[in-house]
Amino acid sequence: MNHCNVRGSEAYCGDSAHILLNEQIGAAQIAGINLRSLRNNIDGTFDLCELQSKLRHRDHEPISKLVLVKNTIDGKIVPQSWLKELVSFCKKYNLKLHMDEAKLWNASVGSGIPAKEIVSGFGSVTFCLSKGLEIAFFISGK
Ligand SMILES: Cc1ncc(COP(=O)(O)O)c(C=O)c1O
Repeated sequence: MNHCNVRGSEAYCGDSAHILLNEQIGAAQIAGINLRSLRNNIDGTFDLCELQSKLRHRDHEPISKLVLVKNTIDGKIVPQSWLKELVSFCKKYNLKLHMDEAKLWNASVGSGIPAKEIVSGFGSVTFCLSKGLEIAFFISGK
């Protein structure tokens, strides 16, 4: 709702994204956002050419506002190089970015990349402390 601050906003996400497949599509119900899906590749990325082709330009269409990334997705850590490409893409097309990263800490430990670097360039991020605890137990050996 923060990013899609005009009525008729549209957000883009992979077709395996939790936000699209779960939560009774709260983005649509509560925030009135049109979620448009992009085909998720096996590594959790989606094709930036497909994203570009789906952006809206005409005044009677929905308003392209936001890109959502699920990370981790289906147990996989989305490649950091692709996240950087996506951040540049979104800057170029004036799109906001949100990371749905319930397992942010797990992704950070698994990849060795600090959490702040993983989410760098994103306007917002969600994470889940209880899922992070799994990794805390793993690290402490308890
Ligand atoms: C917004 C949101 N995203 C993702 C998840 C799940 O993430 P994962 O598929 O990494 O377990 C949840 C809850 O479990 C959630 O509420």
